[in-house]
Amino acid sequence: MRNKLATQSLFELSAAGRRATTFPESDVGAGPLDELLPAEQLAESPPPLPELSEPTVVRHFVNLSTLNMSVDTHFYPLGSCTMKYNPKRHERLARFGGIGDLHPYAHPEDSQGMLAVLYDLQEMLAEIAGLPAVSLHPAAGAQGELTALLVAAAWFRDRGEERTKVLFPSSAHGTNPASAALAGFKTVQLNKSAGGLVDFDELVSQVDDSTAVFMITNPNTLGIFEKEIVRISQLLHDHGALVYIDGANMNANVGITRPGDFGGDMMHYNVHKTFTGPHGAGGPGAGPIAVRDFLADYLPAPVVQKTGEGYELATPSRSIGRMRSFFGNVGILLRGYFYLRTLGASGLKDVAEQAVLNANYLKAKLADVLPVPDGEWCLHEFVASAKRVKDERGITAMDIAKRLLDYGFHAPTVYFPLVVPEAMMIEPTETESMETLDCFAKAIRTIVTEDPEFLHSAPHTTPISRPDEVAAGRNPVFRWTPACDS
Ligand SMILES: Cc1ncc(COP(=O)(O)O)c(C=O)c1O
Repeated sequence: MRNKLATQSLFELSAAGRRATTFPESDVGAGPLDELLPAEQLAESPPPLPELSEPTVVRHFVNLSTLNMSVDTHFYPLGSCTMKYNPKRHERLARFGGIGDLHPYAHPEDSQGMLAVLYDLQEMLAEIAGLPAVSLHPAAGAQGELTALLVAAAWFRDRGEERTKVLFPSSAHGTNPASAALAGFKTVQLNKSAGGLVDFDELVSQVDDSTAVFMITNPNTLGIFEKEIVRISQLLHDHGALVYIDGANMNANVGITRPGDFGGDMMHYNVHKTFTGPHGAGGPGAGPIAVRDFLADYLPAPVVQKTGEGYELATPSRSIGRMRSFFGNVGILLRGYFYLRTLGASGLKDVAEQAVLNANYLKAKLADVLPVPDGEWCLHEFVASAKRVKDERGITAMDIAKRLLDYGFHAPTVYFPLVVPEAMMIEPTETESMETLDCFAKAIRTIVTEDPEFLHSAPHTTPISRPDEVAAGRNPVFRWTPACDS
């Protein structure tokens, strides 16, 4: 029998007369209230609050807290999101009094330590990107994309060039075209794929003098390195356009290869992926951008500059203005800073190598049940297809994903990217052990042998099984409504 404490609301658990705390009888009477408030303003009866004992309340909330899945409790191979373990020491360091309590309005003279840290972070991110100028402002990867595109638009405007188009491959993350549209560009999707990679000939046919930017993720959303990236960048540059590298997948590159070296002019980081800022549902994150020197004057204000004696906040001469209040999500930036300082350059290279090794290990372990249509080797993640198991046994990617919850694993990303049928995008990250990966592979291998009917109604161990996900996402109901409330 399921534990009601975790599945029912406190209102449903209420029992008349129960109390967590008892107060002595009031000896002041009701008189003063009547005098303070006119009678017609007073409620006729007390509000229908739940009546509960203390253990019921405590158990309810503790049980609720265990219903969610998190990186701290479960393996979380959510492809594209890089749900790696966030070391606790970075959490603690980011909360140290002198750092965590600093007021965002503190005068630069009184916050030299913080400015030194942020300046160092700018420098480290520039070095890792191979691009010299950094803005720490954007609060997420998507805002980084928008910021960089606004920077590009301002640069083209100053040059008197009217460029209207932004190109991106069909495997691009949805935020790429969304950011381009928000920045005022026309979006053009490339549809062909050469083994999961950008089709160079199609790109040639689309690039012209109205192209402003080509947005590309490398390694791409299939977890494959775009090995023609130098030729691609050259093509764009020959047409006077810029190359934007979506750095969401930098976990595979850090310490090994740099966007600036393979032709990128602008990029964003997702600190909450690559550098262990915790992901919070939709935020707060940090999506700093790095750009080439000729774009530096257009970066959002302020940037941290080094002066003779210390550090100051400065506004770049052609700045696009502010993208975010204060200095971005400093709490997340700090976690990224501590992570980078802890690892150093060689540690960072280890991260990428281990992430790639883990992904290839898992890919090989699952190859006969969930084959990967594109790419012999992957980088930090791979996109497997459940099409065969669907054709043969009627088991879908969604069935496998839902059933994994019963086995104690967070599901991989499913049905994205759209270019792979029955896609399961699996990203183990470098923080997982071989034992965990073996367990996960074993669970999937077991699931694909289970009764398809049983799988269609999985998960079977969670309080709710298959909600209408679109309705739940678009119209979430967070408030309990009493039956009598019309
Ligand atoms: C490839 C890619 N680009 C961009 C983004 C957007 O990043 P954010 O969620 O930080 O806005 C994501 C997020 O998952 C991503 O995977």
